[in-house]
Amino acid sequence: MGAEAQYQANYDESKVPSYNLPDPLVMPGGRQVKNVKKWERKMRPATLHLFEDQVYGKIPGDLKMTSFRIVEEGKNTPYKNAIRKQVELLLEKDGKELRALMLMYLPETDQKVPVFLGLNFYGNHTVTEDVNVLITESWVRNESSFGIVNNQSNEKGRGVRTNRWAIQEIIDNGYGLATIYYGDFDPDRDDFSDGVHPFLYHYGQDKPRPNEWGALGAWAWGLSRALDYLETDPDVDASKVAVMGHSRIGKAALWAGATDVRFAVVISNNSGCGGTALSRRRFGETVQIINAAFPHWFCDNFTAYNNNEDNLPIDQHQLVALIAPRPVYIASAEEDQWADPRGEYLSGYHASKVYELYGKKGLPSPEMPAIHQPVMNQVGYHIRAGEHDVTLYDWQQYIRFANLHFLNR
Ligand code: GCU
Repeated sequence: MGAEAQYQANYDESKVPSYNLPDPLVMPGGRQVKNVKKWERKMRPATLHLFEDQVYGKIPGDLKMTSFRIVEEGKNTPYKNAIRKQVELLLEKDGKELRALMLMYLPETDQKVPVFLGLNFYGNHTVTEDVNVLITESWVRNESSFGIVNNQSNEKGRGVRTNRWAIQEIIDNGYGLATIYYGDFDPDRDDFSDGVHPFLYHYGQDKPRPNEWGALGAWAWGLSRALDYLETDPDVDASKVAVMGHSRIGKAALWAGATDVRFAVVISNNSGCGGTALSRRRFGETVQIINAAFPHWFCDNFTAYNNNEDNLPIDQHQLVALIAPRPVYIASAEEDQWADPRGEYLSGYHASKVYELYGKKGLPSPEMPAIHQPVMNQVGYHIRAGEHDVTLYDWQQYIRFANLHFLNR
């Protein structure tokens, strides 16, 4: 196969190669895992280790924020019955500083509320028209239609991404929303001198080692640090935090859910390759394509599987399995073939064995449901009409799923 053919994405189901998926309940030596105890003591740690070592990279140390500070709060929001908080998460170490700014909207109540937590792509001020929301100062990707010039956000971006965040809907259903610009933890570019990585370098080191974290690992780490703050917030029920993410941030949300069991629910919106799509299917975006386009997302060891997916010791259904027995929801979009909707569904299906070990129902059928027919078991799934995006329909399903698991209704 020529170099060009290797980079071409396949969109023809009949050309998906036959493949053997690793069984999430068979130990590397061939022993069958028959109970939760064996899964939790042996197989789960072994699986997690493989993802750390070969896919996302491990965090080479223990790194927490040094302080949290509420920088602004108010009731003057564009939403009914909501309060706003803006919280700075600060990391100080060896003369270096990392600041992440969290925006929260919470329903006005004296009860602690469950929260959806998700990173955003272009800054907190893009998710709302609220004029009180601070504009991000971190490096952002240039996007001329959002008025971003020289990688700097400005007033023109305010509210440009409100369509992706159903804030009033979330509030009306009794949930809070917490969001942070993902580049606050690591700007999305192939540069390891910025973001959180340098905080754990040894003397003379200027990039992570081949089995150490890339950008997805940094974003997942950031989600855990946001949860550290939520645990201290008296208005939040931190035992009910649903981590949600779209696309590359959906990959990071899954990895956060796998590595941090405090996340009670995990939601993947169109996460595709390196998210819930099975790598071995090589449908749409492939390991080789993603590593070429985004060399900073995964650990360098992952490049060994470029055009070599069958040698991966794991596949993405096992990432979903790492979330068990906690509820996980996978969403696809019909026109998002790049992300391989069928591969996204199948990883939920093949992870379901592990949910069943816990006596929970996953996705029992190998057949995908029809468009707009959500399945809501301990593993949930829907495919909706339309493009790669987050829509009101998606949020409505996430709220239903959260209601089911958090409120039993
Ligand atoms: C690209 C990339 C995907 C990613 C997406 C996104 O399309 O190939 O893997 O999910 O960007 O984050 O929007």
